[in-house]
Amino acid sequence: MEVTLQQANKGLRGSLEVPGDKSISHRAIMLGALAQGVTTVKNFSDGQDCLTTLAAFKKLGVEIDFDTQAKKVVINGRGFHGLRAAKEALDMGNSGTTTRLLMGILAASSFETSLVGDPSLSKRPMARVTEPLAKMGASIKISSQQTLPALIEPSSLKGTTIRLEVASAQVKSALILAALQAKGESTIIEKLPTRNHTELMLKQFGANIEILADGLTIKVQPTKELRGQELVVPGDISSAAFFMVAAALTPNSKVKLVNVSLNPTRTGILRVLEKMNANMTIQARQSVGEPLGDIIVESSKLTAIKIGPKDVPALIDELPLVALLAAHADGISEIRGAAELRFKETDRIKTVCQELGKLGVNVKELQDGMVIEGQPQLRVTADISWDSHGDHRLGMLGAVAALRNPGQFRLKNSQALGISYPSFLTDLASLIVG
Ligand code: S3P
Repeated sequence: MEVTLQQANKGLRGSLEVPGDKSISHRAIMLGALAQGVTTVKNFSDGQDCLTTLAAFKKLGVEIDFDTQAKKVVINGRGFHGLRAAKEALDMGNSGTTTRLLMGILAASSFETSLVGDPSLSKRPMARVTEPLAKMGASIKISSQQTLPALIEPSSLKGTTIRLEVASAQVKSALILAALQAKGESTIIEKLPTRNHTELMLKQFGANIEILADGLTIKVQPTKELRGQELVVPGDISSAAFFMVAAALTPNSKVKLVNVSLNPTRTGILRVLEKMNANMTIQARQSVGEPLGDIIVESSKLTAIKIGPKDVPALIDELPLVALLAAHADGISEIRGAAELRFKETDRIKTVCQELGKLGVNVKELQDGMVIEGQPQLRVTADISWDSHGDHRLGMLGAVAALRNPGQFRLKNSQALGISYPSFLTDLASLIVG
């Protein structure tokens, strides 16, 4: 699908509540399914990826009701031993989170499960999950390229100590979910702290899990029972970030994002905006569980930034946006230590450089990042055919890039936006001053 993107000559104004956090929504279905009793989830993400998780657990025998209007999900938990073999291979669609976390959940099951995915997901590396899970006794077969399709075979797991080789919340979460079902204690040691939604939610569900003072070591005890909970999913900061960056880059703009997750393992983009001198205010709200608040961003004169390996996990999904900010900032920006971008829905180092290049941005591709020469005055007058490459975040990036430019922008493969944010273009249009 191809669409024409809108400009915002008079700026962006107003306030918006973005859909529920994708990472938290996935985990809510998963823990709800594994718990005893009923779990209710309000403000569930309506993106394709979370619907993939929902559909997979239905096929594993879990009764789940989704009221799409109210964005409310009710899950009738079946306990750790209550999942049933699916009749056919489970379709993971485009979702890496569903795939990798399910491997951890099903590693200890008493039946076989096959997982398949779409062409993009079928290129993404899976040995990073299956190899550490194998150390716990799991048996998961993947292709010779170490990708999907996968066959998860029945196993009994034993607790062990695992040092993670990649900074990945998906891999960490898979191991934690397996460790709950293992015999004996497990210790999982991260390379760098990554998003901790699994740990926080598991504590709420009553699991015996402890994060040590170093912030990197997680101790998991075998857990017999999780208890169903009432959850409210905060707005996804990774979605809100597109509007924050849009407001910062577009003259005459002031946008308020309400009820956004402010979990510190996810707020790297706020630290970047602050460092780049963006005009931004953060107002924390009272909350239980995940921290949340409102974020106001106005048009800004931005300065260049240097991103290093330690900054990366807390803004891994926002790095394409950082590249766009850098393209319009004063000075030369660098993103390094971000080779993980090459393993996302697309190789985001390559695709971001390619699309920014179309705007006349001077960007140099590095193996683990990019160097971007900022042009604060840049106004693209040429007509641009921006390609999402089938990657939702690349597609939304194009829509943000189009706002301040007089050239006509068209977005190729716009259907990809539905993966995390089906109403993104409508929500963006609601902020454009007409
Ligand atoms: C996610 C973890 C990150 C992130 C992805 C969601 C999660 O992936 O990029 O969008 O929900 O755990 P990695 O674990 O591969 O870094």
